[in-house]
Amino acid sequence: MKEILDQLEDRRARARLGGGQKRIDAQHKRGKLTARERIEVLLDEGSFEEFDMFVEHRATEFGMESQKIPGDGVVTGWGTINGRKVFLFSQDFTVFGGSLSETHAKKISKIMDMAMKVGAPVIGLNDSGGARIQEGVDSLAGYADVFTRNVLASGVIPQISVIMGPCAGGAVYSPAMTDFIFMVKDTSYMFVTGPDVVKTVTGEVVTAEDLGGAKTHTSKSSVADKAFENDVETLLQMRRFYDFLPLNNKELPPQRPSFDEPDRVEMSLDTLVPDNPNKPYDMHELIEKLVDEGDFFEIQPDFAKNIIVGFGRIEGASVGVVANQPMVLAGCLDIAASRKAARFVRFCDCFNIPIVTLVDVPGFLPGTAQEYGGLIKQGAKLLFAYTEATVPKVTVITRKAYGGAYDVMSSKHIRGDVNYAWPRAEIAVMGAKGAVEIIFRKDIGDDEKIASHTKDYEDRFANPFIAAQRGFIDEVILPHNTRVRVARALSMLKDKAVENPWKKHDNIPL
Ligand code: HXC
Repeated sequence: MKEILDQLEDRRARARLGGGQKRIDAQHKRGKLTARERIEVLLDEGSFEEFDMFVEHRATEFGMESQKIPGDGVVTGWGTINGRKVFLFSQDFTVFGGSLSETHAKKISKIMDMAMKVGAPVIGLNDSGGARIQEGVDSLAGYADVFTRNVLASGVIPQISVIMGPCAGGAVYSPAMTDFIFMVKDTSYMFVTGPDVVKTVTGEVVTAEDLGGAKTHTSKSSVADKAFENDVETLLQMRRFYDFLPLNNKELPPQRPSFDEPDRVEMSLDTLVPDNPNKPYDMHELIEKLVDEGDFFEIQPDFAKNIIVGFGRIEGASVGVVANQPMVLAGCLDIAASRKAARFVRFCDCFNIPIVTLVDVPGFLPGTAQEYGGLIKQGAKLLFAYTEATVPKVTVITRKAYGGAYDVMSSKHIRGDVNYAWPRAEIAVMGAKGAVEIIFRKDIGDDEKIASHTKDYEDRFANPFIAAQRGFIDEVILPHNTRVRVARALSMLKDKAVENPWKKHDNIPL
């Protein structure tokens, strides 16, 4: 018996060593952890249950039959994060560059199938040279098997991709179909075709970092949702992020203990909005004063900064926050902001996370760049996403809610459940100046008359009371009471049950 146990331990030790000490050292030298070290940081201590540690590839071409490493370049299994189940795979760059073989793909597919059976999220730690070149089409078939599972799991279990090294070629499409992509600064990159191919085909000279590094994807392409400084920070932030999510689409997000009273009053909010309606203020301040302990996990903080989206908690339960940011483009909705917020709203709706919308929007951004880029259809994404969402929706208009953007930002008309406005909110077709210049065009040039018309328009329309008279606003609330009013609304909506008409799926303007 001892001999068998020794043999088992030997085999395990070999598998744990991956591609060998030299390659592990090289990985460390680049500032990267190994696949197993990453799992140790991500999961609760001692919770990892590994599958398929002894799986080997079956390739015979290019001398591969003599190069077999148990595990075949990916560590898979399940464990817990703060006590809650999670499935994961962690690609091992020390084994054939973490490249994906037929068996490597089978290991990933196996844990994805298991995650779907039991209803738990999947986190993928990506660090791979792409398709295992020696395997050819078997590798491509393996990728497609994973893609298929990504699609079928979408909206059923949360899927999170963490890019911790190379992720290139068709390999990028698995992360692309998951709910969130996080990257590590300086050591990760993603692109469909690398710098060499780009140079050959287009003549452009670009570094891997500029083409597909964390900065590019978090600020330019919006492919990635957020980037962190290094492996350890990334994985610790994933533990924090995980706590905002439910395990699957039939469950509610976890209730976390909160020491922050729901009826906390924030007097400073009464002076958050400046007297001058054209002066900006930082919407982050309201968000941080609204959510439990000011704990806000922002998504895409470096892209389309005119809208803020992210997760917080109220009374210990997750909420998705969507908020116009007056500091950037005056909080206008443009193509990028509409797409960013629409995707976020849809994620929240898939996974039973109520949406709190904070509105200060002067309208859609004008201009040829926006119209040529399809603002009509891109803006419609957000309108569509809010309208179809059946989770509880609470809206607070802090200042401007003009025109179509008023309708879009979770208004009563598109099934907002509880809609509040601060006393100085302006709910109108447009700002007073613009309105007067159109309806009193003949008086342009007569400053006195224009000033009088503007004042008249402001008095009549630049307030929340006309909307409140019609019931479009449920209540005009005092800014300092925002947290308690939102908390009460969410508590009342807890058991909200609404079903959309039966359909195969909708046809959101993509
Ligand atoms: C097999 C691979 C490999 C691959 C790397 N290796 N990529 N083995 N298949 N795709 C091996 C290397 O031979 C090497 O083995 C080890 O991994 C480390 O690679 P290095 O090149 O030494 O590392 P580095 O200098 O850091 O460069 C990393 C890299 C580079 C940029 C990822 O290896 C590279 O360009 N690889 C090829 C990438 C690629 O073209 N993949 C196919 C993309 S197309 P030793 O034994 O020396 O340690 C694709 C299609 C997917 O993926 C389609 C889905 C539908």
